[in-house]
Amino acid sequence: MASYWTRKDDESEELRTVKPWEEETSHGKIIFPKRKAMNLLELAQTRYSVRGYKQDAVPEEALQYILDCTRLAPSAVNKQPWHFYICRTEDALSKVRQCYNREWFATAPLVIVCCINHNEEWVRPSDGHTHGIVDISIAAEHICLAATECGLGSCWVCNFDTALCHQLFNLPDNQEPAVLIPLGIPSTEDIPEKTRKPMGDIVTEL
Ligand SMILES: Cc1cc2nc3c(=O)[nH]c(=O)nc-3n(C[C@H](O)[C@H](O)[C@H](O)COP(=O)(O)O)c2cc1C
Repeated sequence: MASYWTRKDDESEELRTVKPWEEETSHGKIIFPKRKAMNLLELAQTRYSVRGYKQDAVPEEALQYILDCTRLAPSAVNKQPWHFYICRTEDALSKVRQCYNREWFATAPLVIVCCINHNEEWVRPSDGHTHGIVDISIAAEHICLAATECGLGSCWVCNFDTALCHQLFNLPDNQEPAVLIPLGIPSTEDIPEKTRKPMGDIVTEL
């Protein structure tokens, strides 16, 4: 049996051809070509902040796959202090677009509002530091990486009017909208080059 670290390409080939792109969607139209899934490095390289989307709807299967990946995200003391709101009706989209008024954002056919549940987040006893923002950030990145795997674009958005978002969606007091994530098929196939600090600037061996 191949070990976790020595998985051979010919074995992984079959394993990696998985849902949702293999199947006809219940909505009829197949949007995603059958393809080999990416490993984490490939996903990290391929994911980028997509700021322009085609109008095609996000297939239900892809959304459910993304949400499955999100639900499995780790959280401090496994508190899972989060709630995710899906905006894809005209009404919900028009509300979320008021909270982040950008032309490109309005092209997304679906937006996930990622909320921290402050009633359930872990608080570190040694210094009282709350961890909801850490937990929601991990979950949000699961959304983005899973979306990339599905061939969908995404973008973290934190620079939005959180108070307006809270009010328009009538969110419970204990919930704080922390991140908006638009999802959809990127309007362009060009992937911008990554600009990142060199390894030597960010890693130190002690
Ligand atoms: C916490 C966080 C908040 C962000 N907020 C916004 C935002 O409000 N609007 C936006 O256009 N991009 C936002 N971004 C996207 C970043 O600008 C982007 O991730 C960064 O420039 C790196 O580019 P890349 O995602 O294409 O690799 C945010 C990213 C993070 C991680």
